[in-house]
Amino acid sequence: MSMEQDSNSHLILARTHRDRLRGDLTIIMKGEGVWVFDQYGKRYLDFEAGMTRPVHIGYGRKELAQAAYEQMVKLCYFTPMEFANEPALRLAERLSEISPGEIDQFFFVSSGSEAVEAAIKLARHYHYFKGEKRRYKIISRRGAYHGVTGGALNALGTVLPMRQIMEPLSTGTIFVESPYCYRCPFHLTYPQCDMACARDVERIIQFEDPEQISAFIGEPIQQGFGAYAPPQEYWKIIREICDRYGILLIIDEVICGFGRTGRWFGIEHFNIQPDLITMAKGISSGYVPLGAVGCTDRVMEPIEIFHHLHTYSNHPVACAVALRNLQILKDENLIDRSFEMGAYFLERLKSLESHSIVGEVRGKGLWAGIDFTLDKEKRAPFPPHRVVRMTDRAKKKGLIIKTMGQALEFAPALIVRKEEIDEAVRILDECIHEEEKELS
Ligand SMILES: Cc1ncc(COP(=O)(O)O)c(C=O)c1O
Repeated sequence: MSMEQDSNSHLILARTHRDRLRGDLTIIMKGEGVWVFDQYGKRYLDFEAGMTRPVHIGYGRKELAQAAYEQMVKLCYFTPMEFANEPALRLAERLSEISPGEIDQFFFVSSGSEAVEAAIKLARHYHYFKGEKRRYKIISRRGAYHGVTGGALNALGTVLPMRQIMEPLSTGTIFVESPYCYRCPFHLTYPQCDMACARDVERIIQFEDPEQISAFIGEPIQQGFGAYAPPQEYWKIIREICDRYGILLIIDEVICGFGRTGRWFGIEHFNIQPDLITMAKGISSGYVPLGAVGCTDRVMEPIEIFHHLHTYSNHPVACAVALRNLQILKDENLIDRSFEMGAYFLERLKSLESHSIVGEVRGKGLWAGIDFTLDKEKRAPFPPHRVVRMTDRAKKKGLIIKTMGQALEFAPALIVRKEEIDEAVRILDECIHEEEKELS
């Protein structure tokens, strides 16, 4: 296989317009720390931890390869039905120690989407075994991303072509607005809004019939608008509404989990107890595919049997790698490091607010975003293709970043150093400046 300009390869790339590839296929050959190298040896500062953001401990960690090797030699696989395996038992135990509050029972899958499927199914099982068989509807939010498979796709509130091409989807997903204060969907201003986005959920529940609703799903801090944290009281209000109507609360920690936001889990910033959480990405730092759903004993208690199975559920090798990954996150203090480096990164990003097109800079831990605007005063929309162009400029200059609609998003590995942050901000400054110049 030629490694040069191989845009006629036999590989289908995910969500990549074929026009974007003509004669310009970048092949990432290796990674070290927060750096990756392409087929020509060009190196890139990866400020998206693998673009989909899983690589929390950085590239090239031999300890994880060793953990996989040892487990493969010992026991590569055994069914998740009727039998347990040691790494899955140990990983579930470790997760019960670090997961928010009373989350205590775990089921392992191979991706974030599968974790969301499993969470939605567990919620249905809970109501079913309690005799509330009419509860099937799921509340999701416009702007949400929960994955691409059946139930997860139903809950997708953004990336519209993904939904539209697959329609008709199954019924039973209700959308409510997201807490996105910079461009409030209700055209209100915080705090005078009295949290209309959260309170509106109750009105919609009443309209939809509370006795038909199974669960509310949401990311603690949302990716859809570029790392957007809701006001502090948002999740408390949602929790209270769910409790009032017997609705389970699923918190999707697929991105936020394992230190991304400076805590083990994103929901810890908001001090509420979820009923279920979904995890993936940082659980194994991307070294092997792994996702998980966790729930409280209260949720598991009525469920006589969980009618769900993937061949690779509770996979021993994936669980062994995740255990070693969690050990590294702890031993190297990477959760606190994410908090501290995140504060430094945010401060550096704030220096870009002087640009006329930078509307808002925000971040929690090592997850940050810049929202762009054509008019700071009026918060006028910014053309998304111009944001894409900034990522193209950045890539040419050796920096990998990502767009989220009108925003840029950043999620470097948690081992990132100050010098690397400085370098990224320097390149960003140039890219924004060039875009600004073109606009004027
Ligand atoms: C919040 C959230 N949930 C679920 C998913 C789906 O995970 P996966 O791509 O591993 O299926 C993602 C993926 O980015 C995500 O960000």
